[in-house]
Amino acid sequence: MKKFFIQTFGCQMNVYDSQRIINMLESYGMQQTDKIQDADIIILNTCAVREKATNKVFSALGRIKQSKKPTALFGIIGCVAREAGETAFKRIPDLNFVLGPQSYHKLPLILSNPDAKLLNIDLGGLEKFDELPQVEKSPALAYIPIQEGCNHCCTYCIVPYTRGRELSRPFKDVVKDVIQAANTGAVEICFLGQNVNGYKYIDSDGKVYKLSDLIKEAAKQDNIKRIRFTSSYPTEMTDDLINMFKTEPKLLPFLNMPIQSGSMSVLKRMNRPYDLNQYIDIVDKLKAARPDIQISSDFIVGFPGETEDDFEDTMKIAEKIKYINSYSFKYSPRPHTAAALMEDQIPEAMKKQRLAKLDSYLNELQRQFNESCIGKTLECLCEGLDKTGKHLIYRTPYMQQCVVNKPAEITWPILARIDITEANKASLRGTFSK
Ligand code: SAH
Ligand code: F3S
Repeated sequence: MKKFFIQTFGCQMNVYDSQRIINMLESYGMQQTDKIQDADIIILNTCAVREKATNKVFSALGRIKQSKKPTALFGIIGCVAREAGETAFKRIPDLNFVLGPQSYHKLPLILSNPDAKLLNIDLGGLEKFDELPQVEKSPALAYIPIQEGCNHCCTYCIVPYTRGRELSRPFKDVVKDVIQAANTGAVEICFLGQNVNGYKYIDSDGKVYKLSDLIKEAAKQDNIKRIRFTSSYPTEMTDDLINMFKTEPKLLPFLNMPIQSGSMSVLKRMNRPYDLNQYIDIVDKLKAARPDIQISSDFIVGFPGETEDDFEDTMKIAEKIKYINSYSFKYSPRPHTAAALMEDQIPEAMKKQRLAKLDSYLNELQRQFNESCIGKTLECLCEGLDKTGKHLIYRTPYMQQCVVNKPAEITWPILARIDITEANKASLRGTFSK
């Protein structure tokens, strides 16, 4: 039996794409392996958002070249494939395939013609969703992509180049995926998209479907108990969507809504044309709709021209919103982006210093929020056993990890009400509620 090895870098969309590839190769009778030496085909599904992520891919390819079977095929798919294109073959001449995020379903072509060099980084279609085999058994938490690409064109971001312009999947196709997931084990649905709340599909009768319509439809499925979506653009949080947090109890009270910076002048140069008051208004409306809602953000520090005052404004907005579960990054110049050409690039040492300061504050906010959960009962979704096999790992509605002692029984609930007893900055501990 032929074996494949696949490694995934980057976002949840890549994790999803890799799962579809696994299903496809298994449907060809191939078997997944975690040993490169055993594999007949080696696939890296890659991320290009930061330069470090891209470099990681090429150093991994160098190592794979040394340890793989001489006959094994190897290549890259995803955003680095799209970013590098033909130059990937120049950097690693033995490489067999380079397939972009919207053409990875063409992978079988290399299996039938192993001597070819397969290059396809085309954009503009979501045909991959139709061509790949359906997921037969869903995990408890099912990720369902609803749109791909982004029209926002933030000046630092390579995603509009690697994933292309926004395309929304047909409403009925998404609903079909939701029903399939619900009937085969899903308890929680997470709708995915680079600009998920920009989802907009117009059918042949001219009827417009939005993310709020998808949430309503998913909530009709009895097996689905929890719904979330990621990642959202602030000014696309329209009232119909905000209202969902009030009217739809299955929608979890947690939202990733990246602000990136707290400085108006930086936001302007980032081409994120909202002002802070507008952002704060949206947060206030969300809180009015759902008082227990928490917000998470992505931040970039050291964007070209960022002054000490600009950075302090970012610290201030973090304090005002009291973000939980956030990510922060040093600005990384990327090809095909406007910010890479801007003057006033910030020295690495300063970026590092600012990142350390922001990170430590975000960790403190997380610790405070985690501690505020002690004494509460939260409904949590089981992710399985920890490494020791002695504990179960659950996820709270706020994506916190909660550790529970494994019960004596052989089975345990997928969804459980858990009394939170302890907290630190990284996780919670709890016991099953009586
Ligand atoms: N909305 C998208 C965001 C993609 S990039 C999605 O969820 O699919 C994820 C995060 O990486 C961004 O929110 C931003 O904070 C960060 N990022 C993007 N480009 C970057 C760059 N050039 N340097 C540093 N961080 C970057
Ligand atoms: Fe990137 Fe901005 Fe879109 S961060 S994915 S261009 S909203």
